[in-house]
Amino acid sequence: MIRKCLFPAAGYGTRFLPATKAMPKEMLPILTKPLIQYGVEEALEAGCQNIAIVTGRGKRSIEDHFDINYELEHQINGTSKEALLQSIRTLTNSCSFSYTRQNEMRGLGHAILTGETLIGCEPFGVILADDLCSNPNAQGVLAQMVNLYKKYHCSIVAIESVQPNDVDKYGIIEGSLIEEGVYRVTNMVEKPSIDQAPSNLAIIGRYILTPDIFDILRVTKPGKGGEIQITDALLEQAKKGSVLAYQFQGKRYDCGSIDGYVQATMDFYHLTSKQNLS
Ligand code: UTP
Repeated sequence: MIRKCLFPAAGYGTRFLPATKAMPKEMLPILTKPLIQYGVEEALEAGCQNIAIVTGRGKRSIEDHFDINYELEHQINGTSKEALLQSIRTLTNSCSFSYTRQNEMRGLGHAILTGETLIGCEPFGVILADDLCSNPNAQGVLAQMVNLYKKYHCSIVAIESVQPNDVDKYGIIEGSLIEEGVYRVTNMVEKPSIDQAPSNLAIIGRYILTPDIFDILRVTKPGKGGEIQITDALLEQAKKGSVLAYQFQGKRYDCGSIDGYVQATMDFYHLTSKQNLS
């Protein structure tokens, strides 16, 4: 039912300068895989075979990553190294990739609106690749959300509890619990101060959006930080009772920050060594 997943990947990644001066943040590796590859794997597991990526200047390596490199593949064909390309081959064989460019960085809401041309008029997933989610040996976060969508047919944001000191880094929701881990959103505020936050339930980089979001985004005025905020557009849907917030199973790493990136690297390293031993 959800066939397409949008990856807004046009941001500058300033928190990771100078690494991100000439390289997209989404291509930073956790062990041997770039962040965006983990995201595409999660999307495919959720049933999305159409991968739509919003890129910008300096992001060409993302397109190259999801393409065939004939020279390299020919070179390692039949050698022990061939297996190292298996994970990316699975994606290029199973998914279609389409790209569009966001010419001006006018915020996440604007990046999502830029992706309309690739999505059209159907519900779709959104993954922010720098929020790396893992749920070893169980369903990925987007797949969990797709299951919920099948029941409720409305927009869904993934949320997690954050420390009160951190609420000013996220969109924060207010809502009423309708089933375990699922809230109907009644209000949402982008990056509130601690005393203005309606809760400590923060929106992370996973969404399912119904396509009416595009019409709302078209008329959404720049909000916090002068950017077009997806939270402001979602609030319009929430006023009609059509946004859910889902407390997902699994762990999220904010790989757009150095602490989250290092933690993800360590956890994935330990997980891989355990799997290799068993
Ligand atoms: P961030 O807030 O993490 O911004 O964007 P950023 O530019 O990537 O990183 P910093 O804060 O400067 O270090 C959240 C997501 O939205 C995308 C980013 O690529 C990232 O996946 N985004 C943001 C866009 O695609 N376009 C924008 O105009 C803004």
